Amino acid sequence: MQITNLNKGAINSIRPVFDGDKPKIYIETYGCQMNVNDSEVVAAIMQKAGYSVTKDIGDANLILINTCSVRDNAEQRVWGRLEYFRQEKKKRANVTVGVIGCMAERLKDKLLENNIVDIVIGPDAYRELPKLVEKTESGQKGINILLSRDETYADISPVRLDKTGVTAFISIMRGCNNVCAFCVVPYTRGSERSRNPETIIRELKELSENGYKEVTLLGQNVDSYSWNGVTFADLLAMVAESTPAMRVRFSTSHPKDMTDKVLETMAKYGNICNYIHLPVQSGSSAILQSMNRKYNREEYLQRIETIRKIIPDCAISTDIITGFCKETQEDHEDTLSLMREVGYDFAYMFKYSERPGTKAARHFKDDVPEDVKIKRLTEIIDLQSELSLASHRKDLNSIVEVLVEDTSKRSENDLCGRTPQNKMVVFPKGNHKIGDLVKVKITDCSQATLKGIAQTMFNNEEHRDTTLPDVSVNA
Ligand code: 5AD
Ligand code: SF4
Repeated sequence: MQITNLNKGAINSIRPVFDGDKPKIYIETYGCQMNVNDSEVVAAIMQKAGYSVTKDIGDANLILINTCSVRDNAEQRVWGRLEYFRQEKKKRANVTVGVIGCMAERLKDKLLENNIVDIVIGPDAYRELPKLVEKTESGQKGINILLSRDETYADISPVRLDKTGVTAFISIMRGCNNVCAFCVVPYTRGSERSRNPETIIRELKELSENGYKEVTLLGQNVDSYSWNGVTFADLLAMVAESTPAMRVRFSTSHPKDMTDKVLETMAKYGNICNYIHLPVQSGSSAILQSMNRKYNREEYLQRIETIRKIIPDCAISTDIITGFCKETQEDHEDTLSLMREVGYDFAYMFKYSERPGTKAARHFKDDVPEDVKIKRLTEIIDLQSELSLASHRKDLNSIVEVLVEDTSKRSENDLCGRTPQNKMVVFPKGNHKIGDLVKVKITDCSQATLKGIAQTMFNNEEHRDTTLPDVSVNA
């Protein structure tokens, strides 16, 4: 699963609801996109139970922290936040603190030791939250970390917490049946189950009716989606056809499971974005084997070749772990050479972090010294910076389609949004607004962003460029 925003801290995007005397819930979210969507499910459950959502922690009766266990530093950040919540509890009476998500599942007892946490609730037990909150009112702790074989929250319409109302997530499945040796997710999120496609289409249509322009279908391993004979490729086609004006993305794909049929479906429908996140983890076949990834370097590269053949303009990103157990300098160089060979447009890169209970923790020694891990990670990051810049340079002078997501953080006069290839573009606002689909000519780039000028701006003398077709570009 792709991890978002971990390094930027919490994704705290709860929209305030000023609902008189209703009790208020504040949710802080760490970790992957799935967690972001889970917080929206929790917000929906609590709204139904009479709560309103606040973005002001000082105003909250119930403070929830949705947690990630995928690496130790993600957990450490949460322990730090819990100390901050302790101060909140001291300041005001009747503040309840709950830990939800992967850390709740993994560390229940430890979390309850510290006199801060009143509620511990795992990823499959969110429906129980109102009951557990009630329980805390009589001074008891509220605990439920049962994992389920069938919970998908299929009937719950998440309360969208994103400020702009343009892009949204839909979870299509939960849990994971792979046992990658480094990964704690199968233990914290349980076994894999897919969601009824009818409920996915219902949610999709709701989003479309509410003005959303892009949806990302989420699962730990979307390629193994399966519901009464409906495969992931079938689901993608259903989604693309149900809302032809909606951009469609998905994450995460597993190299061992991604079928040609999925690629052909992507090629067939113009509204499925040409972008694939395909975590490789390592470029060394020996390391891939000990990671239990079930593909080798050659098979991965074969998948990349097929993607390029079927979808020539597909952007590809990846996840890489550096310093996994027994990783040699040669293994590391294999990763660097694979990165060059693929020419990734983007990558999420991590130092291996041993997770208790995983296959690697039980069977291997975390034997790559910290300074070597850091050196290798730096080399990987430096190489990816070059590759990202090279990828962006290829877009110079081309015209790309941007779905505007927000105002640029750097300037109120600029808008920002993504191309179908998931590249971030910044351009002067002109008459455009959030939610518009805008054709933008790329004039400059860095390794992180493309910069450009909306085609409509070329009607202004200042930017006139007669080489560009005269097309109306607002959605
Ligand atoms: N250490 C470092 N990175 C990890 N990931 C998963 N588990 C670990 C770990 N123990 C990374 C993988 C995965 C991404 C979501 O997080 O690259 O694809
Ligand atoms: Fe973890 Fe592997 Fe499942 Fe991804 S596919 S969640 S890395 S076990």
